[in-house]
Amino acid sequence: MSTPVLETENLVKVYGSGESRFDALKGLTFEIHDGESLAIVGKSGSGKSTLMHLLALLDAPTAGVVALHGRPVSQLKTKEVSRLRNETFGFVFQQFFLNAHQSVLENVTLPLKISGWSKADRERRGLEVLTQLEMDDKAENKAKDLSGGQKQRVCIARALVNSPAVIFADEPTGNLDSATSEIVEDILFGLHRDHGITLVVVTHDDDLAARCSRRLIMQDGMIVSEEHGVLVDHHVDSTLGTETDTDDDTFDPSQLGLEDQDEIDGADQAEQSEGGRA
Ligand SMILES: Nc1ncnc2c1ncn2[C@@H]1O[C@H](COP(=O)(O)OP(=O)(O)OP(=O)(O)O)[C@@H](O)[C@H]1O
Ligand SMILES: [Mg+2]
Repeated sequence: MSTPVLETENLVKVYGSGESRFDALKGLTFEIHDGESLAIVGKSGSGKSTLMHLLALLDAPTAGVVALHGRPVSQLKTKEVSRLRNETFGFVFQQFFLNAHQSVLENVTLPLKISGWSKADRERRGLEVLTQLEMDDKAENKAKDLSGGQKQRVCIARALVNSPAVIFADEPTGNLDSATSEIVEDILFGLHRDHGITLVVVTHDDDLAARCSRRLIMQDGMIVSEEHGVLVDHHVDSTLGTETDTDDDTFDPSQLGLEDQDEIDGADQAEQSEGGRA
């Protein structure tokens, strides 16, 4: 079999020390292969986001190995890790992490700016992905003026702009109503199917997990079971609400070049408290 895109060996993450020590991941070993769609599911606090952040090279393990295309990441220099992360991965988060006051096009092309693309090339490629997501007519709008579903489509455009091998999505539908969730899911699975992008999705949403080709079920920092096979090949209308949990975790947006950028909802609040200048 081909080299996995990502593999882990005895992955351990410990937060804090002494009395406040918390073992968030307790030795996980598994592989993710090219073209898979993998759901990471489990109760709140079971370690899903922690695991995703280690896989996505946004955080380093306390012990154990993460290897990207067969290369253990700990052997790479920080700059190389940042470059690989920017070129190989796209990210979609529940909280969007858009810069509220920049245009849609500027938000989408940020990964290309980090990669050193010229302005003209960035704009051309940015418009291409916005067209793919039927958002090109909003290219010049400020991100803050979009609906929730449109914001998530902009995030997906940003995740796609560098033609990533893997898209990591942490509760991508967590802030969306069920109709909009279905649209976002269809886009993600369309990219998976048509462009062979590997999907790694952290979710509380059973329907979303069921559409993935594999599910890792986590409990207390361990993978307690694993399921294979797509359980539904289209979205079934569901009255189940998605559990939303807005607790902060270890993710630091500055690692994706998002420093100085307000999380969009936070930025909206700040604007209101300034007296809502238009
Ligand atoms: N920076 C941190 N310092 C201390 N403990 C942390 C830190 N980040 C996470 N944890 C703890 O690690 C555990 C796993 O957290 P994680 O965010 O991975 O859970 P999760 O499965 O993603 O939960 P949710 O579904 O609520 O998002 C939790 O008990 C959490 O409190
Ligand atoms: Mg989480």
